Amino acid sequence: MPITFQKLTHEYNAGTPFSYLALDHIDLNLQEGKITAIIGETGSGKSTLVQHLNALLLPTEGSLKILDREISASEKPKHLKSLRKHVGLVFQFPEYQLFEETIAKDIAFGPKNFGASEEEALQRAKDVITLVGLDESYLERSPFELSGGQKRRVAIAGILAMDPDILVLDEPAAGLDPQGAKEMMELFVRLHTEFHKTIFIVTHDMEHVLRYCDEVVVMDHGHVKTTCSVSSFFQDPSILKEMGIHPPAVVSLRESLREVGFEIDASILTMEQLAQAVAKEVGHHE
Ligand SMILES: Nc1ncnc2c1ncn2[C@@H]1O[C@H](COP(=O)(O)OP(=O)(O)O)[C@@H](O)[C@H]1O
Ligand SMILES: [Mg+2]
Repeated sequence: MPITFQKLTHEYNAGTPFSYLALDHIDLNLQEGKITAIIGETGSGKSTLVQHLNALLLPTEGSLKILDREISASEKPKHLKSLRKHVGLVFQFPEYQLFEETIAKDIAFGPKNFGASEEEALQRAKDVITLVGLDESYLERSPFELSGGQKRRVAIAGILAMDPDILVLDEPAAGLDPQGAKEMMELFVRLHTEFHKTIFIVTHDMEHVLRYCDEVVVMDHGHVKTTCSVSSFFQDPSILKEMGIHPPAVVSLRESLREVGFEIDASILTMEQLAQAVAKEVGHHE
């Protein structure tokens, strides 16, 4: 079932001199069962948009349909708590929200809050700690002893422990080194392919969008500028250019080659395909 935004508007501090229209009558269909990237300039409304997916923010006008529920300005969602179990939201820099004395307790906090017994919650902690690439020996350690990247994994494990169907990640790779960022993205791909999670990722990294995501939503000043598949998005670099976003390396190289006269198909999205196309153009056949 698609997730549908209908004329969804979010105005911060409505009715005060500080009001700000962060989302302006958004109409949007998001598909379940995909990895969807949400991109756009800072301040374009990405975080505001994704915080509606688990009703952390409520629309000030319009509505959102998600998992058989309708969330609107006029009626408070009836099953907020169960929605939050099914839609796990990981904030930007989630490591700042760790607070328990052990990692086990931190991860078990969410499941316990949703009614799991102490034993079940600890079992969940054991299941998810390895999933995020840390071993069980970490469970009895303090979260504050960890590196930044490890803390973030623990914070994500805390959301995974609730076994949400939909996982929403706001800039999950921000501030990580390239290897840490790659591992983080590979974790989400695994959660998608092995555990069939629907995943939404807010990101600025076009290499990640190209390599790991299926669909893309482009936000611009509180509007949805475009939404399409990742492959068709990178066939037409004009939107990227218009928005001042640096395209992935393969797209830049492909476009440079096309500009100097190489006949290369705009659907090419990997270096291997690009190398083959260049070889063909210059007369090198395997
Ligand atoms: N709590 C808030 N109160 C008032 N304005 C806010 C608040 N949060 C965000 N905004 C404003 O709403 C706009 C969209 O913010 P946000 O959704 O965080 O954008 P993004 O995630 O794309 O950077 C920005 O101009 C921001 O300053
Ligand atoms: Mg943001």
